[in-house]
Parts: sequence; C-alpha cells; structure tokens
Amino acid sequence: MKDILVTGGLGYIGSHTVVQLIEKNYNVTIVDNLSNSKIFILDNIEKITGKRPHYFNIDLTDYNKINSCFSKNKFDGVIHFAALKSVSESINHPDKYYHNNLNSLLNLLRCMKESDIKNIIFSSSCTVYGQPDKLPVSEKSPFKEAESPYARTKQMSENIIEDFTNSISYLSAISLRYFNPVGAHHSGLIGELPLGTPDNLVPYITQTAAGIRQELKIFGDDYNTHDGTAIRDYIHVEDLAEAHITALQRMIENKMKSKYEYYNIGTGVGYSVLDVVKSFENVNKLKLNYSFSERRSGDIEKMFSDCTISNKKLGWNSKNGLDEMMSSAWKWEKNISKFLKG
Ligand code: NAD
Ligand code: WQD
Repeated sequence: MKDILVTGGLGYIGSHTVVQLIEKNYNVTIVDNLSNSKIFILDNIEKITGKRPHYFNIDLTDYNKINSCFSKNKFDGVIHFAALKSVSESINHPDKYYHNNLNSLLNLLRCMKESDIKNIIFSSSCTVYGQPDKLPVSEKSPFKEAESPYARTKQMSENIIEDFTNSISYLSAISLRYFNPVGAHHSGLIGELPLGTPDNLVPYITQTAAGIRQELKIFGDDYNTHDGTAIRDYIHVEDLAEAHITALQRMIENKMKSKYEYYNIGTGVGYSVLDVVKSFENVNKLKLNYSFSERRSGDIEKMFSDCTISNKKLGWNSKNGLDEMMSSAWKWEKNISKFLKG
C-alpha cells in the first residue's frame, strides 16, 4: 500500500481527491490548517469511504511542524493543494498570498528533499496563461503577464518546482493546470465551502437559489460570445480528482517522459454564464433570480482548454457534463447548513 501526503486535503478539491485515493487503496495523510475548511469534512470523508485518513492540523508555513510530520512518516508521494485562492483578496493582500503560497511550497520541497521523497503533484491553474493569444489554450502556450498576485504565485510555484526537479536527481513533479472546477461529490457529503460572499460563479448561483443571496449579478452581457456573457471551461470536481490519481499512478509506475510535466485539466468545452444558469435551472427545476451588470474588472472574455495532451499523454478524460456539475452543486448546497450546525 502506497502512502500519500495530501496538503489542503480538507479543502474543496483536496477532499474529493482524498476520497478517490482511499477508494483506490492508498494510505492517506492529510495536512490542513483549516484556514478554509471545517473539520466535519474529515468525518464526511470517513462516511463516504468507511476509512478515516490520518490528519494533522499543521500550518505549512511552519517548517518545524511540517518537518516533524515528515520525520514520523515515509511518503511515496505528495499532492500539494494547500494554498489561498481568492483573486480579489490577493490583489488587496499580496503579502498574505506570497507568504502563504510560496513559503508552504518551499517548506514542503525542503522536507521532501531531506526525506528523499520522489514525487509531487502540484495544483496549478489556467490562470498561469494570463490572457492567452490563442484559444483553446494548450500547454504549448507561454505564461503571459499574471493578472493578480494569486496568479503570480502559481507561475512562480511552477518555476520553483521545475528548478527543484532540475537540481534533485530523484525528484519528479507534475503540475495540473485546472480550468474552472465546479460541482460536488455525488453523495452530497463534501463540496466547496466558500467563506463569506463567494467570488466564483457556481457557489454564488447555489447560494442565490438557497436564499442566502438575493440575486446573481451576471458580469457583462456585451462580450463577443453567442449570448454576450463570458465563456469558461467548467470541470466537474470528481473528474478533476481523478486526474490526480492518474498523474500519481504515472509517477509511481515510472512512466514519466521528463522529470517535470504539466497538463491542462478541463473539458475543452466552453460554456457562457447564461449556459450555466440555464443548466442549473433546468436540471434542478428551479428559477434563479438574476440580472445583468457591468463587466467585472480583470475578467477575460473567453477561456477554454485544449486537453489533447492530457487526454493522450496522461490518459485522462473528463466524463461529466454541465448538468451533472449543476445537480451535484445544488445537492451539496442543500446539505451545507445542516453540516455547519453539526
Ligand atoms: P480550498 O481553499 O477549498 O482548499 C485549500 C485547503 O488548503 C484549505 O482546506 C485550507 O484550509 C488549506 N490551507 C491553505 N493554506 C494552508 C497552509 N498554509 N497550511 C495548511 N493548510 C492550508 O481550495 P481548493 O479550491 O480546493 O483549491 C485547491 C488548490 O487548487 C489550490 O492550490 C488552488 O489555488 C488550486 N486551484 C483552485 C481552483 C478553484 O477554482 N477552486 C482553480 C485552479 C487551481
Ligand atoms: C466565472 C464567470 C464571471 C460571479 C477564477 C480565477 C481563476 C481560477 C478559477 C483558481 C466569469 C462570471 C462570476 C458572479 C458572474 N481559480 N460571474 N457573476 O473568473 O473564470 O476564474 O476561478 O486558480 O484563477 O480567476 O471564475 O467563477 O469567478 O467566474 O457573472 O457573481 O462567471 O464574470 O465570467 P474565473 P469565476
């Protein structure tokens, strides 16, 4: 049985990946400081899988604490989700983002080097491409000017990881560049837990339907798209979790063609904001309050992936469509308040 350390494993994408790792018989250790999660997620991972992963409440920016975790355990691989992820917050508090996201990564890599750990998978983002010149965007596209400090931490993290793989003979790494992760586990037991007012579209939609928000504001109806609203590549979080399992197997089975690989993880299909709203209404048989407002500053018109390389080289494909994303997101939203009350 292989031992995997999952940082940020109680977060949105981490928790779904932990479930699939346990289902695939990996022995999982989670490190998460609960800065953007709640401990009931650990209980719910156990409810889904029948197994409670080892859990350490450690802040990765504290080298001594994370080092003590490495000295007590021997890991076959690390999946590094832990990071702060709000674009708007990073613009107002860049110090917080550089400190948390970069120091966490550096401490982790230092511990891995000291313990001879060979494999790391990193949560990257389509945000590394900035405003791409060409769509769909493939891995061959260069990094453009970062649109936020958050985006810059992802570009810098990828560069740091590549440098480490060049300097440590036994180290391999895969960065997965997620497009727009949405939806929740089909059980309705885990999903995204936005703290405060959500920045992202789908939690805003589900909170509006639940009566937590009055109405959804659709940012811009004058884009050059089929209905005037902006286009993104939404990917079901369970498909995204599976990409990590596929990447991990590739590393552990020594199938990598270079020491550092990076892959787009999306569906390759772009949907507009209105397409998302209509799918949500149709599949859940609901009417959503929404109105149009000004474009959101910094938003781009269209973003969607070319996933040919991840499909062919990594051997991963997305399975779920927009309706599955919207029905699972709503199922989760209806359960959140019950779990938060305990
Ligand atoms: P999340 O906030 O739900 O999960 C991150 C987890 O990491 C949280 O549980 C948080 O408590 C923990 N954490 C943060 N800083 C920590 C620290 N210093 N020490 C220990 N734990 C810490 O976010 P998510 O949506 O699951 O995102 C996971 C990763 O994927 C992040 O790196 C994020 O930047 C990246 N990503 C997310 C999206 C998205 O839209 N959700 C898109 C692209 C990339
Ligand atoms: C999607 C669309 C909005 C909210 C962000 C990060 C990116 C990546 C994914 C981490 C846009 C519109 C939204 C609302 C709306 N994350 N919208 N009303 O902006 O594509 O990307 O998450 O790496 O880095 O920037 O996602 O969900 O915020 O927006 O009309 O209340 O929905 O304008 O067109 P985005 P999003």
